[in-house]
Amino acid sequence: MLRLLPITFLILFACEPELPPAIVIMSPDHRISVELEQIQGYPTYHIEVEGKLLIRPSALGFRLRKQPDLTGPFKVIQTNQNEIKETWEPVWGQENLISSRSNMVRVELKEINSPGRKLILYFRVFDDGVSFRYEIPEQSELDSLFIIEELSEFNFAQNGQAWWIPGSHEFDAYEKLHNKSLLSEIDSANTPITYLSDDHFYISIHEANLSNYAAMTLKKTSADSLSFKSELVPWPDGDKVKTVTPMLSPWRTISIGWNAADLLRSRMILNLNDPNRLSDVSWIRPMKYVGIWWGMHIDKYTWVQGDRHGATTQNTKTYIDFAADNNIQGVLVEGWNQGWEQWGQEGALQLTSPYADFDIDSVTQYARDKQIAFIGHHETTANVSAYEEQLDTAFAYYANLGIHAVKTGYVGSIKPSGQYHYGQWMVNHFRRVVETAAKYHITIDAHEPIKATGIERTWPNMMTREGARGQEYNAWSEGNPPDHTTILPFTRLLAGPMDYTPGIFDICFDRYKKGNKVHSTLAKQLALMVVIYSPLQMAADLPENYTGQPAFQFIRDLETDWDESRYLEAEIGQFVTIARRYENKWFIGAITNEHGRTLSIKMSSITDSDMVAECYSDGADSDWEKNPTAIHIGSYLAKSSDSLKATLAPGGGLALYLRPVEDSDIDLRSISKLLQDQMTQK
Ligand code: NOJ
Repeated sequence: MLRLLPITFLILFACEPELPPAIVIMSPDHRISVELEQIQGYPTYHIEVEGKLLIRPSALGFRLRKQPDLTGPFKVIQTNQNEIKETWEPVWGQENLISSRSNMVRVELKEINSPGRKLILYFRVFDDGVSFRYEIPEQSELDSLFIIEELSEFNFAQNGQAWWIPGSHEFDAYEKLHNKSLLSEIDSANTPITYLSDDHFYISIHEANLSNYAAMTLKKTSADSLSFKSELVPWPDGDKVKTVTPMLSPWRTISIGWNAADLLRSRMILNLNDPNRLSDVSWIRPMKYVGIWWGMHIDKYTWVQGDRHGATTQNTKTYIDFAADNNIQGVLVEGWNQGWEQWGQEGALQLTSPYADFDIDSVTQYARDKQIAFIGHHETTANVSAYEEQLDTAFAYYANLGIHAVKTGYVGSIKPSGQYHYGQWMVNHFRRVVETAAKYHITIDAHEPIKATGIERTWPNMMTREGARGQEYNAWSEGNPPDHTTILPFTRLLAGPMDYTPGIFDICFDRYKKGNKVHSTLAKQLALMVVIYSPLQMAADLPENYTGQPAFQFIRDLETDWDESRYLEAEIGQFVTIARRYENKWFIGAITNEHGRTLSIKMSSITDSDMVAECYSDGADSDWEKNPTAIHIGSYLAKSSDSLKATLAPGGGLALYLRPVEDSDIDLRSISKLLQDQMTQK
């Protein structure tokens, strides 16, 4: 229950409204507390976890154009508190039921001095973190609203190890490798930014329900080295948010864990979003997919029509056949529409005109006959004005062909120039796309997107997005080092699903490109399909690289929508092991960074019945650099009393599929022999 402290203090200040009371809000389990305090009428908050200071007093408020700052001094008009308990069923997700409890306080403030404007603060304290947001209510003194700065501060109490990508002036590019440094060494960061405090709390700062507002980055304030404030992505004229009252800001979120896996378990960001707005969700389908995609990135194919054109009628049908034969439900096709040769030019990409060698009616009919979802593509080259003009037409075109999934793309600088990918104008564009797509019963996989903030709860057709360095960087850059995928789960992935596009089997692809490679073992590529959650999960390699490969059976068997997920072990940047259940089947993915390690899993932590474990593990000599494709594959009997020990190679991983035992399985070796077999490659 929410606690106001102390009662006598409250009564005392009820007579002195310009010196309002301190308000303490506890998490339901009483481990986290937030104290909202007005220092000479200026509101601040600070956070304690189990009595230890996590965030020192931090200011709140706004700077507004042509208006005095909206920071105080205020008097408290009203406070309301309530406990919120909720259980809801996501349309798809890492589990089929989400429960949350939190204590919320709403504090209505009014400026003591003229013009006497009102500001409302909301704080919600969950067992796994703290969130707050602002409301600027409708009022005669404020109609149109131009926010030039949000003044929310995050004054951390402890230094610690942080994982982050740059913020300031990086308003178009989340696709960066994470920096690892002391919190005190950061100047600015995009969120989520995650850090392990010196007193051993795992903290991640982000935002939830980013709607009609600019994205937040964190910027160091000059005051001292652990103090940050919100820096919003600007419009071309420098304003941050242009709106009218009433205005509700996104939630600022501070996720708190006692260990790294706690961060993975948290659903606070989803819980801070509004319930599902779509009544009919029958057309929303989590799925595995393959695509005419990696071939272009490794130069086997071209997007443009020509000798090596990927998206021809015949080649697409071959991909559809492959999907249908291998329990894969979708095929993404890029480069089927005219205009790729004029990349970047005004109005180049024709979203409704197929190339001459691509018969879209015949291909989509073929896909329908085989019950394969055709995944369309809208590359906009960030020419957003042009895209907006044809939004309805472009989605209607796909809808008429029976297509229910589209990947979007925004490569390049935004046109109109001066707008950023993460500014309010683009936030609204991205939402308009999701809403328009919903009208046509189309789901979205957005590349070069705005960050995930949990809006998939409200708009479950917003299924997955990029928003970080994906697999494609392995095709044409120095690549993603092995620890990249052991950092992503604790940073970018805390925000929501990611279309990383794992599953590359031909690790070096020398036939097409020498000098580039995937920086992992083959077993890790399988494990990533479990670890990196995405309701649209791509098996990214060329079909011919899967054909005849025993390891491909894992991808055939894999599910993409989960009844339950368990986070078995985790340490940021080092390793993570996740088990996910679909009905009575479990899939486990374990990955490591550049260091090999031994993994130990008690079967009782997953199941109390005996299971058959189809294991895909690194071999004795596997190594992401020297021997990436060596893999040990075997079927074992896993009793709930068994412990599984396995070795993960440097840059390696382990993928397991656990299924109920059938009569024919009783002669299998025990899972306790896995490590021994790995060593002898049996
Ligand atoms: C970048 C996207 O991330 C990638 O997936 C896509 O293939 C290219 N743009 C072309 O649209």
